[in-house]
Parts: sequence; structure tokens; C-alpha cells
Amino acid sequence: MSTVRTVIKGVGGYLPERVLTNDDLARVVDTSDHWITERTGIKERRIAAEGELTSSMGAAAARAALDTAGLAPEDIDLIVLATSTPDQTFPATAVTIQAELGMTHGAAFDVQAVCSGFVFALATADSYLKSGQFKRALVIGAEAFSRILDWQDRTTCVLFGDGAGAVVVEAQKLNGALTDRGILATCLRSDGRYRDKLYVDGGPSSTGTVGYLRMDGPEVFRHAVTKIAEVIDATLRQAGYKASDIDWFVPHQANRRILDGAARKLGLNKDRIIITVDKHANTSAASIPLALAAASADGRIKPGNLVLMEAMGGGFTWGAVLIRW
Ligand code: UT7
Repeated sequence: MSTVRTVIKGVGGYLPERVLTNDDLARVVDTSDHWITERTGIKERRIAAEGELTSSMGAAAARAALDTAGLAPEDIDLIVLATSTPDQTFPATAVTIQAELGMTHGAAFDVQAVCSGFVFALATADSYLKSGQFKRALVIGAEAFSRILDWQDRTTCVLFGDGAGAVVVEAQKLNGALTDRGILATCLRSDGRYRDKLYVDGGPSSTGTVGYLRMDGPEVFRHAVTKIAEVIDATLRQAGYKASDIDWFVPHQANRRILDGAARKLGLNKDRIIITVDKHANTSAASIPLALAAASADGRIKPGNLVLMEAMGGGFTWGAVLIRW
């Protein structure tokens, strides 16, 4: 039975030049390399330069993804950008990226699901491509979290970094076999009762300010472990796969302990997890595509591999995507 699948054509990432180490942070707030490493696995993060925007980082990642796909902006007809740190309240940062790429056709919009943003954006693009409305999409995660951090608050400022990642996806008519390439299953969830556990204390309709990130870390951690396990299970079941079939597990990179916990629950070997949290920290919606870009560039993720992505973040939102690379 012929069916349309959303197939990965290219992937790329962009990281700002400036590296901020744990020791650098220990000179600003009451923290230490030892505490940050032990509790999170983070060693360093990248910080956007003055004048460097979410749109410029997103456009750089998009160009890198187009290069690996051997495609040009005119081949793309949809841009979905996941970000919680837009250049402006409006217009959508996706249209700035569209203009930077020189695209005057198609459609571009932002998706806001915080750290789960890339999973939500990829699932959104998948639905549009499968419906036949668009043929090829750029799905981007780009964040400048350094701009919404309270640099006096040691419980949050040590955890996040800046960057962007992108994939190019294409609708292809395939046989519908489990072994066909493309997205096999997506699962999205949210529960707004927990919106005050991880949020920004400002906004256009409330305070009229941008605000700063606030988080009840231990509470987020507690929910992350169970919610991630539930959504992974639902996604695998939907596709008819078992955890032992997964070649690469590409989780949102928030905390090394959460990644290890999720992998343990799945019964996956540690060498099957793509880890970038040590070098990038938590780049919110950019973390999964940045991890995909790193693992694809160094040859770990290859065409035909079964890849499971998952994320959980503010909202709460959480979700997973299973893809035959
Ligand atoms: O991407 C979105 C999803 N976000 C997450 O998944 C984050 C989930 N949460 C976490 O990763 C962890 O909860 C944190 C890394 C944020 C915190 O780790 P924790 O093991 O839950 O530590 P805690 O918040 O319970 O704090 C333990 C102690 C506290 O001191 P007392 O009360 O025991 O004296 C904190 O004040 O560590 C203290 N502390 C710090 N010490 C040094 C908190 N932040 C720091 C710091 N440096 N940066």
C-alpha cells in the first residue's frame, strides 16, 4: 500500500563562537564546576554574541541543513521554527529566516512549545507534508536563552545555552513498509496545570516586559522521568517497534541524569544515546537538531537507522518522534 512519508534530506547546526565554562560561571554566581558537572553533566555552553539573533542562528543552521541536502531555498515551501526566544514579539522569527534565505514563496511560522519545540515543529511539518499541502520543509530549532536568563540566579543560569539546529524534510511516496525511511510515529502531549513550574515571568499581555526564566528544577525533574517514559512507550507502540530496535536515542539535552534515567528505563546501552549536554548545555528547542547534526556529521547516525527523539519542557509539554533516518 503506497503511503506518503516525511523523509530526512539534510541536517545542520550552528553554535555561537563564545564558550562559557563552568569555571567562568563560578566567577559570577555562587556555584562550582563540581556541582554543575555532578548534577547536570554540563561542562560548558555557547553564548550568542551581541547583535547575534535567534533568526541569524536559525538561518545559519538552515543553510547548513540545505547544504547537506544538496537543496536550495527555492526547493523549500514551508519553514517551521521552534523557538521561545523570538527576535520580536511579532512577526514570527520564521519569516525573518525566510527573508534571510531569500525565499518569497511558501509559508513560514513559529511554534512555541519551549524545550519540546523541535518535536512539536517536526510533527507539525510531518502532518502538512503528509496532507500534500507542502512538499519540502525546513524544520528549525533556534534559541537565544542567554537573553532571558537571570544571571544572578544560580539555580537556572548555569543550565542553558544558545544555538540552532535544522533539518530538511521531504514528502516521498513509499510502500508503507516499516523498513521505509521517514517519520514512523509522532506523539505530542501537554498539561497546562504545570505552567508555573517552568516559565518566563514577563510577556506582552501581562507585564509588558520580556521577563526572566524561572524554574522549579526538582519538580520538573520529577515529572520529566515519568512523562518521557510514557510518551516513548506510546510512540514505539504506535509504530510497532520495541525499545531494543532503536539504533540511536536522541533526547532533549537538559540534564545528563534525565538522559541516563530514560535510557535505563528503555533498557538501552549508554553508547546508543547521543549526548551533547556536556558541550551545549540545554539549548531548549535547538538541542535535538543540534544533537542530530553532530551525530550525523560524525557518521554515527546513518540512513536506515531507527532514531528515537523525545523532549519535555515548559507547559508542561512533552513528546516523541520515531524516524527511520
Ligand atoms: O529543558 C526543560 C526541562 N528542564 C529540566 O529538565 C530541568 C530539570 N531539573 C534539573 O535538571 C535539576 O533539578 C537541577 C539541575 C535544576 C537541580 O538539581 P537538583 O539535584 O534537583 O538540585 P536542587 O535544586 O534540589 O538543589 C540542591 C542544592 C540546593 O541547596 P540546599 O538547599 O540543599 O542547601 C540548591 O540551593 O544545590 C543548590 N544549588 C546549587 N549549588 C551550586 C542549586 N543550584 C546550584 C548551583 N551551584 N548552580
